[in-house]
Amino acid sequence: MEKTFLMVKPDGVKRGLIGEIISRFENKGYTLNRLEMVTPSVEVAEAHYAEHKEKPFFGELVEFLTSGPVVAMEWEGEDIVAVSRLMIGKTKPVDAQPGTIRGDFASTMSQNVIHGSDSVDSAERELSLWFAEVASHVS
Ligand code: GTP
Ligand code: MG
Repeated sequence: MEKTFLMVKPDGVKRGLIGEIISRFENKGYTLNRLEMVTPSVEVAEAHYAEHKEKPFFGELVEFLTSGPVVAMEWEGEDIVAVSRLMIGKTKPVDAQPGTIRGDFASTMSQNVIHGSDSVDSAERELSLWFAEVASHVS
């Protein structure tokens, strides 16, 4: 079954949205396989957003992601990569539809509550990045 990497970002944790976000994916029928609350290192944050390293907002993005604890999660379900992106909503607040997580809970582009992998390949890469340590000490 398809897997994806979802993460409640530091603003979502600080605002008390962990339960709300997890509930949306549980209610959808998806399975939560792994969860870890962690304050990301600069190295992990930079690797996570490596595709954006030339962008003018990269520094701000890494600073934000490392500003406090996040909830890193592996979820599983049919077509979960594409469907979870629909549930998350668009990046730009003006495009994020009401009913989506960002449409309901985010009002800025830079602090937008949740991350979701944008392809099956990204999901594999991000899951091995975020859960590398966990995998090595539980197996
Ligand atoms: P993620 O799930 O966090 O990867 O968001 P996304 O896939 O919807 O967007 P994308 O990967 O293109 O960008 C990653 C993050 O960078 C976004 O969630 C935004 O917070 C931020 N970002 C993207 N574009 C801009 C921009 O033009 N300006 C600023 N300030 N931030 C941006
Ligand atoms: Mg992205």
